[in-house]
Amino acid sequence: MDAFYVAIRITLVFYLVTPGSSTCPVGCSCTDDNLGRSLLCMETSMGQIPKDIPEDFIKIRIEKCHLTELPRASFFQVRALEFLWLNFNEITLMNIKSLEGLANLTELRLQGNKLTSVPWTAFQNTPKLKILDLKHNRLDVLPEHALRHLTALTYLDLSFNQLSVISKEVFTNWPLYQTAEKAWGKEGLVSNVVLALHDNPWLCDCRLKGFVEFIRGVSPPIILMNSYLMCSGPASKADKFFHEVQLKTCMKPVASAPETNITLPLGANATLTCLVKARPDPTIHWSYSLKIIRGFAAKETHIDEDTVASQLVIPSLHLADRGLYTCTANNFIGNSSISIALNISSSNFSAPLPPPVPMLSSDENAFVDIRIAKQTVYGVTLEWHAVTENPAETWFTIHFGKYDSPKKEMIYIGPGINSYSVSDLLPVTKYEVCVTLKNHPPREGQCIVFVTGNDISEMEQRERLIHIIVIVLAMVLAVPAGMYACTTEARFSCVDHCVDLWRRQRMHGENLQGTDRHGTFDSLQAASDEGLCRDSEEKPKKRRKSEDKCKGGSAAHLY
Ligand SMILES: *[C@@H]1O[C@H](CO)[C@@H](O)[C@H](O)[C@H]1NC(C)=O
Ligand SMILES: *[C@@H]1O[C@H](CO)[C@@H](O)[C@H](O)[C@H]1NC(C)=O
Ligand SMILES: *[C@@H]1O[C@H](CO)[C@@H](O)[C@H](O)[C@H]1NC(C)=O
Ligand SMILES: *[C@@H]1O[C@H](CO)[C@@H](O)[C@H](O)[C@H]1NC(C)=O
Ligand SMILES: *[C@@H]1O[C@H](CO)[C@@H](O)[C@H](O)[C@H]1NC(C)=O
Ligand SMILES: *[C@@H]1O[C@H](CO)[C@@H](O)[C@H](O)[C@H]1NC(C)=O
Repeated sequence: MDAFYVAIRITLVFYLVTPGSSTCPVGCSCTDDNLGRSLLCMETSMGQIPKDIPEDFIKIRIEKCHLTELPRASFFQVRALEFLWLNFNEITLMNIKSLEGLANLTELRLQGNKLTSVPWTAFQNTPKLKILDLKHNRLDVLPEHALRHLTALTYLDLSFNQLSVISKEVFTNWPLYQTAEKAWGKEGLVSNVVLALHDNPWLCDCRLKGFVEFIRGVSPPIILMNSYLMCSGPASKADKFFHEVQLKTCMKPVASAPETNITLPLGANATLTCLVKARPDPTIHWSYSLKIIRGFAAKETHIDEDTVASQLVIPSLHLADRGLYTCTANNFIGNSSISIALNISSSNFSAPLPPPVPMLSSDENAFVDIRIAKQTVYGVTLEWHAVTENPAETWFTIHFGKYDSPKKEMIYIGPGINSYSVSDLLPVTKYEVCVTLKNHPPREGQCIVFVTGNDISEMEQRERLIHIIVIVLAMVLAVPAGMYACTTEARFSCVDHCVDLWRRQRMHGENLQGTDRHGTFDSLQAASDEGLCRDSEEKPKKRRKSEDKCKGGSAAHLY
């Protein structure tokens, strides 16, 4: 409403004041000096860049005005513009064409905004840019070719951002740096270039080696505003200055195991150990017969700076636990794995051992209460609760996959664990997830079907593109939290609402029906988020009448 009001007033002023180039947007002041005309807008709540800024301005300063975006060709008509100061706004997004038409721009100051990334190719349009101030933003990546189009810079400020790992190629690929290197010693040939890179959370592991060496070797005409850059991680290097740390080159993981052939009696606790040497630290996961064991408790400890031990504990061995366990370690360079054979010794059972089969026991009728406990931008967290005779020994199987796909991924979860997160959902996709006891097939009441949100909005799409570029260019970097599936907040709240509603109905149902809790876990079958709402309101009622009793195997046709 404010923006509308301001827009009306601006329009009015345009009509009331003499039409022509000498108007000044409302709330701003315009001055003339020997350099040219300047526009100054301070602490107005304009929220967006005024349209129709007269074209004869040399300097524009819009500060503390709650700007959130630099749209395409924002200042296109202000072709003479040389100084653009947009400090202390709330800009999160800069369009790749936002600097279009600004061929004479020499200063761009964006201090104190909320940029997490900058479309660096935008600077193609500003070949004369000398000063670029991005201090106090939230930049967390600097792609290798970020500076490619900044060939006339004399000052680049990236201090107080979120940069943690960058490669030295950012600078060695910079044409300006290459010229400076050639002109080294011939004073006066090139002007100095001041770089501000301090106060970023530098992660001093092997990935930063090149950059740390670059910083140590920097010499005029490149000048660091503050050459005391400090590591903020990993723990062993935190708070050390760059010149105090010695970094080694990165190394692909190498996995090994002290024991690769283990035989234990039935009912024993097994501990499988895998040692991984890698730089930087690897992520380690265990798999059993090619299925990833994400739920078993694997404990990681650092043996030395480059070696991690991962221990997988399998409590009270069952026959079904026999087999080949594989420990796989990954870092950005590669992966490595080692297999450990686990056998169960017992003189009491007759050879050959039977294959693992579902054991029919009183657990067969145990009830599994499953729900979506949390939604994140990428996915969901499931939680379940089961009353079984022996909770310390009951393991679960999660069956997860697209609803219409007969093949589901099966994930085995160890005893005592009752949640599991999926983090790579696709948008507008219908999924089914079931939690079963041991290796039983899924039954009705043990499954949830859900649909992820519609495709992302245009604004998110643009950010996402930026982030994808980042992923491709900077493999070595942690990718900032993205904005993928199940996206907009509106949709989330819709789903939340539905889940709430469904939960409430469920509780209502429980109250009415006392102990019979089966069948209250109706699948949320929906083809869209709107459908999700509607279905969750209607279906449980309808279905509760007809399908209240648990009918074993009704979900099994999917497999
Ligand atoms: C850009 O600057 C040059 C040299 O200072 C000047 O001749 C030219 O008119 C300027 N361009 C515009 C569009 O004002
Ligand atoms: C483990 O040892 C048994 C006998 O001790 C042998 O038969 C089996 O092949 C070994 N397995 C592996 C994977 O080394
Ligand atoms: C297995 O581990 C559990 C818990 O750590 C312990 O209570 C139990 O005694 C162990 N069993 C054996 C056979 O060592
Ligand atoms: C491990 O690396 C190989 C190539 O070296 C690749 O083909 C394979 O997909 C990788 N596996 C994983 C789990 O990343
Ligand atoms: C596992 O142990 C049983 C007896 O304890 C033995 O018969 C069998 O060959 C072993 N299997 C492997 C793969 O070592
Ligand atoms: C194995 O057999 C022996 C006698 O053959 C018996 O005493 C023992 O209880 C049995 N153990 C198990 C776990 O069944």
